[in-house]
Amino acid sequence: MKGCMDCRIPGCLALRDNRPPCPVVKLKTAASTWATQQRHERNPLRASLSAWEGRVSASCSPIVDSQGLYSDFHSSLREIGRTPTWHLSQRMWRVILLLGNAVLVGAQSGVAIEFCSAVDFGLEGTADVLARGFSDYFVKVPFTVEKLLGAARSDSVDFSASRIAVADGTAVGAALIARRGWTSRLAGMAIVPEARRQGVGRALVHRVLEDAKNRGDRTMVLEVVEQNEPAVALYEGCGFKKQRRLVGFSTQSESGFATAGLAEVDLRAAGEAMTLCGVADLPWQLSGETVAHLTPPNAAFRLDGAWVATSSLSASEVSIHAVAGVPGAEYVKSASGILYALGAKFPGKRWTMKAVWPEELGEVFSAVGFTRTPLSQWQMIVSLSWTSAGSAPAFAIVDVAAAASRHGQR
Ligand SMILES: CC(C)(COP(=O)(O)OP(=O)(O)OC[C@H]1O[C@@H](n2cnc3c(N)ncnc32)[C@H](O)[C@@H]1OP(=O)(O)O)[C@@H](O)C(=O)NCCC(=O)NCCS
Repeated sequence: MKGCMDCRIPGCLALRDNRPPCPVVKLKTAASTWATQQRHERNPLRASLSAWEGRVSASCSPIVDSQGLYSDFHSSLREIGRTPTWHLSQRMWRVILLLGNAVLVGAQSGVAIEFCSAVDFGLEGTADVLARGFSDYFVKVPFTVEKLLGAARSDSVDFSASRIAVADGTAVGAALIARRGWTSRLAGMAIVPEARRQGVGRALVHRVLEDAKNRGDRTMVLEVVEQNEPAVALYEGCGFKKQRRLVGFSTQSESGFATAGLAEVDLRAAGEAMTLCGVADLPWQLSGETVAHLTPPNAAFRLDGAWVATSSLSASEVSIHAVAGVPGAEYVKSASGILYALGAKFPGKRWTMKAVWPEELGEVFSAVGFTRTPLSQWQMIVSLSWTSAGSAPAFAIVDVAAAASRHGQR
């Protein structure tokens, strides 16, 4: 294959699309602008490197001469009297990987992929691209602006951090990002069917990981349907590690004897108690923070130090959002006890629990007649730190005695 007249790299998109200027030359120009900027900024290295990364990651779809780019980078450093360190080299390689990814997208699709925030793109457009991306999904996911706003409230979805992938002016994919403290969650991600298998999904995940690193986050988490092989492969390929299997349950309750002591409580108080006394490292949706952000007609109950949060109890099918038992040895007994009491108080309902429950907690639900539903998920995590590899926290019930006794007195 002939090389481009400018960069001489075989298969360069400038050749293929007959679309000068050559993207590699464009990149090299960007690199030298970056080097010039180094001399002017107060904290030049960091600021300019980030700016340069941002520019190239959002830019064209070049064939990248990675070695050339790398040595340009090193000579730029020397020019401004800085010694190339391991840390800087790692950062540069990351940029090159990112570019390599853009190359794949460009080389396969022949179009440039750009990323914009969901705020800039607009919520209606974001809901539309998600609805198209999830149109052939395992379960029906109705994406509307209202649903997105609900996710912003209870799941902490941050639209300014969420990204839309745009090709030739058309939205082809979206990644919803939720944020709490140092952790981000990939809360929903889809590529429209006609744009799949062209590297857009990988480029989008890399982009949101990059954004998260740049804002100083330490980890990104997600849940993915175990049977969704393309998505599991995509996330593993982007560095996510499996933490644990999550499962769902359902049951039909018969009439029963109401248990004395079951009291309705504020969702906020239930959320706070679940944060302090619940299972460590629960999936985002089961966490106390999520429960604390729910509002009526969702509801919460307490029984002898155990807590439960549900969807509206006036419906015939009720979703159990979260359960927490008494920390320690009584955990399973108290958590299943509150579920039994709830079923007895509201007889004749179908109770469902989405596949977000750690498999290890199955005992709680089987004890009160729940059966497992077919779908399961992987809870996954990636460490965003430069130095430490991602490690999966072990399953543990946090036994915060002081907190438990405090909440027991509410
Ligand atoms: C999963 C999904 C986002 C992948 O997007 P995509 O743009 O097609 O993915 P890419 O082309 O970037 O592929 C990246 C990697 O993902 C994996 N992958 C993607 N599609 C795959 C498929 N059909 N079969 C197996 N692996 C697949 C591969 O590991 C691939 O790397 P490779 O090309 O080197 O083999 C897309 O299929 C989708 O939107 N599905 C419907 C919604 C969904 O499942 N979302 C995830 C919810 S958690």
